[in-house]
Amino acid sequence: MDFKLTEEQQMIRDMARSFAEKDVAPYAAEWDEKAEFPTAAVKKMGELGLMGVAVPEAWGGSGMDQISYVIAMEEISAACASTGVIMSVNNSLACDPLLRFGTDAQKARWLKPMASGKILGSFALSEPASGSDAGAAEMTAQLSEDGRYYLVNGTKNFITNGPSADMTIIFAHTDRAKGHKSLIALIADIPTPGLTVGPKENKMGIKAAWCSQLIFEDCKIPVENQLGGMGEGFKVAMSTLDGGRIGIAAQALGIARAAFEAAGRYSLERQAFGKPIAHLQAIQFKLADMATRIDAARLLTLRAASLKDKGNVRYTKAAAMAKLYASETAMWVATQAVQVFGGYGYLHDYPVQRHFRDAKITEIYEGTSEIQRLVIAAATLKELAG
Ligand code: CAA
Repeated sequence: MDFKLTEEQQMIRDMARSFAEKDVAPYAAEWDEKAEFPTAAVKKMGELGLMGVAVPEAWGGSGMDQISYVIAMEEISAACASTGVIMSVNNSLACDPLLRFGTDAQKARWLKPMASGKILGSFALSEPASGSDAGAAEMTAQLSEDGRYYLVNGTKNFITNGPSADMTIIFAHTDRAKGHKSLIALIADIPTPGLTVGPKENKMGIKAAWCSQLIFEDCKIPVENQLGGMGEGFKVAMSTLDGGRIGIAAQALGIARAAFEAAGRYSLERQAFGKPIAHLQAIQFKLADMATRIDAARLLTLRAASLKDKGNVRYTKAAAMAKLYASETAMWVATQAVQVFGGYGYLHDYPVQRHFRDAKITEIYEGTSEIQRLVIAAATLKELAG
């Protein structure tokens, strides 16, 4: 087992870090405060190849591996978790399913501009009445009599990038009686007649990443926009989320690292009882546990990414473990970081409250921690049963 990054992976880490330090971190607090979409940073990420890291160059991407993707995600998210999730949704939830299930025509139309950052993607699975129980979606897609389009009706909820995206991938039932087997995936342009983008949600954290409902009312989507085959929608969604969860693990890792570094630096400056608080064991134990958990989360995330890179192995369990552990680490580390800062940690003048608010969502989206545990338990029990 070799833990060393390749030269190419080190290069993307250094590039992402220097971009994040110069063009993202200095503005993150203001973007958060104003819930301002980081337009210039997202454009620059496209130019730097960060919007389609693991997409082949022929389809507009950087042609790198999943390890490179998570390394870059950690760097961007350490600077700004909002910018991180915008990047993650585009890479994992929009580019990746197009790459795996798209026809060449679909790839030329959506993947190429998306992976090169010319357009922004989104992924629309959750609905007002179905989040964790994804198969219970109510959206319908009825094939027209002439077989040329689907008539789509229903509402998608909490769609990250919804108000900023140029396209979305939706999941709808062609015959609800068949359960998840009737789900199909469809690509919808934004804007498109019959699709209304709802108002921006007012969120606790990741405020600069916009999120909204997408409301489809008699929206005609051409049959050539179907991604994957009939009845394959649930598989498209679930396998896409396997990859997405690795991206969110990396985002959580970035948040945790930022909170840890802020707390560590503060502990070296802040004096109490005649010495820097870093000299107190109470603080040292916190920093030691933070550093250990962050390292463990990073190793799980890199393992999941390396399994995805293999291309021929199922990495559902590894991705769920990485997402579960990294998100709970981010929340725990951010909570400890606020504690290290004491009263100052509670003020908006310091960054740890932002990391604390940003961390929470990583335990919720792309499958809650409870769902990750279900996925891990199901895979583990299957292995035990032999
Ligand atoms: N890959 C491929 N196929 C999969 C799969 C995977 N990871 N997981 C399940 N499947 C297949 C199964 O093999 C099964 O196929 P067959 O019927 O052919 O046997 C089928 O899908 C149904 O599987 P389950 O019986 O396990 O399905 P379920 O209804 O019990 O649901 C679940 C399983 C894990 C709870 C799933 O519904 C789930 O992951 N829920 C969470 C949804 C989620 O993560 N939502 C996030 C929204 S997106 C988002 O958050 C984006 C954002 O804002 C950033």
